[in-house]
Amino acid sequence: MKEVILKAENLCKTFSDGGVQRHILKNIDLELYRGDFTVIMGASGAGKSTLLYSLSGMDAPDEGTLTFGDKVISDLSQDGLAVFRREHCGFVFQQIYLIDGMSVTDNVLCAGLLASKDKKQIISRAKELFASVDISEDTQKKFPYQLSGGEAQRAGIVRALINSPEILFADEPTGALNSKTGLDVLDTLTEFNERGQSVVMVTHDVRSARRGNRILYLKDGVIMGECDLGAYEHGNAERHEKLAAFLKDMGW
Ligand SMILES: Nc1ncnc2c1ncn2[C@@H]1O[C@H](COP(=O)(O)OP(=O)(O)OP(=O)(O)O)[C@@H](O)[C@H]1O
Ligand SMILES: [Mg+2]
Repeated sequence: MKEVILKAENLCKTFSDGGVQRHILKNIDLELYRGDFTVIMGASGAGKSTLLYSLSGMDAPDEGTLTFGDKVISDLSQDGLAVFRREHCGFVFQQIYLIDGMSVTDNVLCAGLLASKDKKQIISRAKELFASVDISEDTQKKFPYQLSGGEAQRAGIVRALINSPEILFADEPTGALNSKTGLDVLDTLTEFNERGQSVVMVTHDVRSARRGNRILYLKDGVIMGECDLGAYEHGNAERHEKLAAFLKDMGW
């Protein structure tokens, strides 16, 4: 039996556009499971990022209940949500928000020390994470503007994981990268997932989506369908075909 890590019930989000209310998320019911690599796909404007932000406490839904473990988080204040995010969530975006005036190491340690007082433990975890994403000691000393896109994104992943988040949320993490560096970032996410990290990733890209074991398809703010792909296996043609057939079915 899979353990439910995050549960959304009747999640709704509306934006006002020139006085007109637009329903972007429509009564979404969803359970996310520990250890899964969940992928959210759908056309541009379908509401994927809005869903990711609502699930992760980055933005409060207008209606509905969000439960993390046995804790209802949709009732939390802005400050309460910030604590929830800091303690339980990691974020990776298309744009990489490293702080420019700080070295890569300081960016990561700073994020770690916001959530923990145990500096020794943070330093040792940072070392381990940098090694696992192949960021050398020389690169760790650099400033963000001195990094390649792929290095910056991998540093961003280290920062996102420094507090051992229970869920890593990623919104188009390879969107701004070329094909080779994008692949390295996907490999990094896959490796962490294989070690047990729960991941929720929004993507447009079928090749990225193949990394997931569970694919959700969002259309006009509704989850239209989902596909159980099983764990990622490099070059597994059966999985490729299953995903392609599912996406075709969804009208992709
Ligand atoms: N803060 C906001 N205010 C008003 N409208 C918004 C806001 N954020 C998103 N929207 C609208 O909600 C809809 C869904 O946006 P969202 O960013 O979730 O789409 P998406 O599926 O992530 O698209 P893309 O693939 O292009 O990133 C869009 O029409 C967008 O214009
Ligand atoms: Mg988006």
